[in-house]
Amino acid sequence: MAKKVAVIGAGVSGLISLKCCVDEGLEPTCFERTEDIGGLWRFKENVEDGRASIYQSVITNTSKEMSCFSDFPMPEDFPNFLHNSKLLEYFRIFAKKFDLLKYIQFQTTVLSVKRCPDFSSSGQWEVFTESKGKEQSAIFDAIMVCSGHHILPRIPLESFPGIERFKGQYFHSRQYKNPDGLEGKQVLVIGIGNSASDIAVELSKKASQVFISTRQGSWVLSRISDCGYPWDMVFHTRFRSMLRNVLPRAVQKWMLERQMNQWFHHENYGLEPQNKYLMKEPVLNDDLPSRILYGAIKVKSRVTELTETSAIFEDGTVEEDIDVIVFATGYTFSFPFLEDSLVKVEDNMVSLYKYMFPPHLEKATLACIGLIQPLGSIFPTVELQARWVTRVFKGLCTLPSERAMMEDIIKRNKNRIDLFGESPSQILQTNYIDYLDELAAEIGAKPDLLSLLFKDPKLAVKLYFGPCNSYQYRLVGPGRWEGAKSAILSQKQRMLTPLKTRTLEPASNFPVSLLLKILGLLAVALAFFF
Ligand SMILES: Cc1cc2nc3c(=O)[nH]c(=O)nc-3n(C[C@H](O)[C@H](O)[C@H](O)COP(=O)(O)OP(=O)(O)OC[C@H]3O[C@@H](n4cnc5c(N)ncnc54)[C@H](O)[C@@H]3O)c2cc1C
Ligand SMILES: *[C@@H]1O[C@H](CO)[C@@H](O)[C@H](O)[C@H]1NC(C)=O
Repeated sequence: MAKKVAVIGAGVSGLISLKCCVDEGLEPTCFERTEDIGGLWRFKENVEDGRASIYQSVITNTSKEMSCFSDFPMPEDFPNFLHNSKLLEYFRIFAKKFDLLKYIQFQTTVLSVKRCPDFSSSGQWEVFTESKGKEQSAIFDAIMVCSGHHILPRIPLESFPGIERFKGQYFHSRQYKNPDGLEGKQVLVIGIGNSASDIAVELSKKASQVFISTRQGSWVLSRISDCGYPWDMVFHTRFRSMLRNVLPRAVQKWMLERQMNQWFHHENYGLEPQNKYLMKEPVLNDDLPSRILYGAIKVKSRVTELTETSAIFEDGTVEEDIDVIVFATGYTFSFPFLEDSLVKVEDNMVSLYKYMFPPHLEKATLACIGLIQPLGSIFPTVELQARWVTRVFKGLCTLPSERAMMEDIIKRNKNRIDLFGESPSQILQTNYIDYLDELAAEIGAKPDLLSLLFKDPKLAVKLYFGPCNSYQYRLVGPGRWEGAKSAILSQKQRMLTPLKTRTLEPASNFPVSLLLKILGLLAVALAFFF
């Protein structure tokens, strides 16, 4: 009999989990608290309790070719970075194509998930739900927790003495929808993540002045990289990832700093990160440096105190007449429906094996999907997580002993701190390609470049030097997809198509490179004969 799996949440993580369950012949039921799919990516004018909330202008920071699911490229005409409504459209076509909606029970909240009395032998769970005032429960063989981690705002008010005196308005970035009502105001944005920068830039076009306060600073990257390619298609290649892994730390540091300062000198703009050598998530923002250059945004250090109307900063400077403070200070997460001991954050560390499995359970029948912050797109990441988890549930893959899992968790956390630092905002941060490869290896879907080099050298070169996108994990192993190779070879075209909106006359100039080659050959011939 097919195993029954409860999927909690129908955001991106929930949708891909459903598909993987179906692919593996499991029998999923998805519980979604709201009336629709998409989770975070379904924009609403109002903020809802218990649900992620985004601003109207959110655009993806990872490109379409790097963000799509591995056997379902985005439509060719979709832009490379997508407005939230466009990304939601992709999830809708995806859900339709794989017929996923029929597994989802909407407007059904999971209240609690409890181990069955015979858990140590059956591994089963009882799931208690509530739908339109009616409570129910059902037994499942396994659980995929896909409830997201951008719901609970973190506002460290204790670090802002005087906030209770402040006469202006203040709110968390989660409350921010658009600049309406903030025209002509003096706004102070706290934090320098992606949201903080987006909000500061957007407000700076309407407000009288925007300040952005950061203790740590940050590298800021443009979405546009070498030759106009999306940043992640250039940054996330196997070749570059290998360099980042093997080069001595000193060379790496030098390269990182050089690369990051190519666009503008962060020091001159007051943005230079406190610890320059951490791979702490960069901010992706094409406008922030120009808004700073125009004086529309002023970068300030940490706030040490607030008064009724002003902010005092660490360097002793004071900004008067602040009307509004936006706390873009990130999120914390919790799983109110799980027993406390299952997913714990202790000593700044999440005690989950590979960010998914609680190591102390007798049976590996519960996993978190999407509780992670990779340096690249989360979509291919959650897909590989779900592919592995469903194979573990099915008994085709097994987990190591509890002790080995704990050792791995501790070691992984040490590496994480080395690379990304100790800030609580970095607790879920992981490397990109290394993590994907690790999961793919578990299910036997990691491409073997060496043997490919002999069989299909052109493809092997593309895999190594080209963007490491999700199609690479559909070339071999379970879940192999016939279209994977052609998707890899045609990605450049899909990247270029949406840009070709103006028909250009076919180039009529003489092929200079050919001319140079002929001249070169002539020169060699001449040198040879005379
Ligand atoms: C502003 C912003 C921009 C981002 N941009 C990018 C990007 O460009 N690229 C990228 O890779 N990542 C990005 N991310 C990361 C983001 O985490 C992922 O894109 C992704 O959407 C997370 O999906 P999820 O399904 O895990 O969670 P969510 O989208 O939060 O979905 C969780 C779902 O679970 C439901 N739920 C919760 N609790 C319960 C319950 N008890 N019972 C039933 N249902 C429940 C919720 O209603 C919701 O539908 C961004 C994040 C933010 C905040
Ligand atoms: C994109 O932005 C979101 C929201 O700030 C963040 O969680 C995610 O890690 C970012 N992704 C990358 C690759 O920077």
